[in-house]
Amino acid sequence: MKTSKELRQLFLDFFSKRGHRIVSSSSLIPSDPSVLFTTAGMQQFKLYYLGEKSPYGKNVCSCQKCFRTSDIDEVGDGRHLTFLEMLGNFSFGGYFKKEAIEWAFEFLFKELKIPIERAYVTVFEGDKEVPPDQESIKIWKRLGISENKIKKSGRKDNFWGPTGKEGPCGPTTEIYIDGVEVWNLVFNEYYQDENGKLSLLPQKGVDTGMGLERLTMVVQNKSSVYETDLFESIIKEIGGSGAITREKGIIADHIKGAVFLIAEDIVPSNLERGYVLRRILRRAIRYGKLLNLPKFFLVPLAQRVIEIYQSVYPELKSKETEILTVIQAEEEKFEKVLSQGLKQFEKISQKGFLSGLEAFHLFDTYGFPLEMTQELAKEKNIKVDLKGFQEAFERHRQISRAGAEKKFGGIGKEATYQATKLHTATHLLHSALRKILGEHVRQMGSDITPARLRFDFSHPKKLTKEEIEKVEALVNEKIKEDLEVKREEMDYQEAIKSGALAFFKEKYPQRVTVYSIGDFSKEICAGPHVKKTSELGTFKIVKEESCGAGVRRIKAILE
Ligand code: ALA
Repeated sequence: MKTSKELRQLFLDFFSKRGHRIVSSSSLIPSDPSVLFTTAGMQQFKLYYLGEKSPYGKNVCSCQKCFRTSDIDEVGDGRHLTFLEMLGNFSFGGYFKKEAIEWAFEFLFKELKIPIERAYVTVFEGDKEVPPDQESIKIWKRLGISENKIKKSGRKDNFWGPTGKEGPCGPTTEIYIDGVEVWNLVFNEYYQDENGKLSLLPQKGVDTGMGLERLTMVVQNKSSVYETDLFESIIKEIGGSGAITREKGIIADHIKGAVFLIAEDIVPSNLERGYVLRRILRRAIRYGKLLNLPKFFLVPLAQRVIEIYQSVYPELKSKETEILTVIQAEEEKFEKVLSQGLKQFEKISQKGFLSGLEAFHLFDTYGFPLEMTQELAKEKNIKVDLKGFQEAFERHRQISRAGAEKKFGGIGKEATYQATKLHTATHLLHSALRKILGEHVRQMGSDITPARLRFDFSHPKKLTKEEIEKVEALVNEKIKEDLEVKREEMDYQEAIKSGALAFFKEKYPQRVTVYSIGDFSKEICAGPHVKKTSELGTFKIVKEESCGAGVRRIKAILE
């Protein structure tokens, strides 16, 4: 029987032999600021579908770590997961439907010898905007798939993308084995803008994704992903009777997701990624309680996760202490309040519904993520006033902000000014990078807090020490020159013609604001900025790292 490890390698070897460059998995934190997590293999290649030149050539394949909460309510059913590995082959203006379908067919039914009787496929049936995918039907038939095994479906099931606010997308054809969707082949012919409007891409692309867990399940002839070698030891560690219940499945899935998120330096918090991590950890803890698992049961489970994956993702082993510490700390924290919170929930749910304020109280005092309260409520068949929760949440936030400003004497204004300075520094940095590394450098993302700036940009390799020093020196030189920061309004076309930089693919209104710093930098930007560069002080790069294929990340501060 083939192991998951063998399957991962077989897939990559198969496509490597067919002219694909193997690219390693990118981080679970994508460079696209409009999405929280990497949810698909194509994300790190998004720009290549839109015409940017791929440094890996036209055809690539990968095994990508993915994390998504979209299916979280289905987790536990043996098929759906939050963390998964996606095997994929991709083409940016290289091959198209014929090769993509033929190779998928060959890999599953010849290479892995999965009996073809177990399979059926789906194709896009067409709608008002996008024509039916007759070509895929023809190819499947030619390969011997009979008409009654080719199902047609619409936009909801057989059209994929874009990730984030905009991007490549297109009709799909999917391969099902034993009724489970195993492989999704996307034909990226379209670009969808932020308003949902489709236009044809200048080149055609292929983006496929096959969950390693499901493939392993099918190949190992198991009835759920939890029985495969990607989960077996975790389920065993959870213990109890032989049956793999939904609760056990949820715990096993969530601990795995948590381990991978913490390995990306995410820590539990009440915000964005940290909140998602907290949510899955606390949900796992609650289910652990339901199963009467001992205190701190998550730590040995996390160790099993690390064992399963360490040979493929060595960072899990090198960060083991950190991972286990974070998990134990969160368990300790939540353990203290969980029982009391559950009692409180029992009490207030008697009346048949939960007010927004009550849900907020559970969150604020007992650390119940809103989704957990909702789940508890659903089990009792009662409703939670979501709007009321949001209002209570917002009110609380404003009160604490006002409180902090009062306490620290207007810290709010100071923080805003720090962020404004860092924003101006970001423009200087962008320009300096282009001057020193070359014009291929483009902004891919930016994030500013009062303490530091973070800037993601396209560049194929690590910056040398000399390059970092040169960039730093150039920015500081421009700060010393005390350049004026000028704000102008003009037509978008005029701005571009005058050489102003625009954030790649963002949709701008017809009239835009352009900020120039002396004649060193010119960008379309909403501001705000400082008046003169001398306000910035000294610019210092504190970190330079990779954040996805062909994308670098710089963190910098002003002293
Ligand atoms: N990007 C496609 C998916 O995630 C293949 O299903």
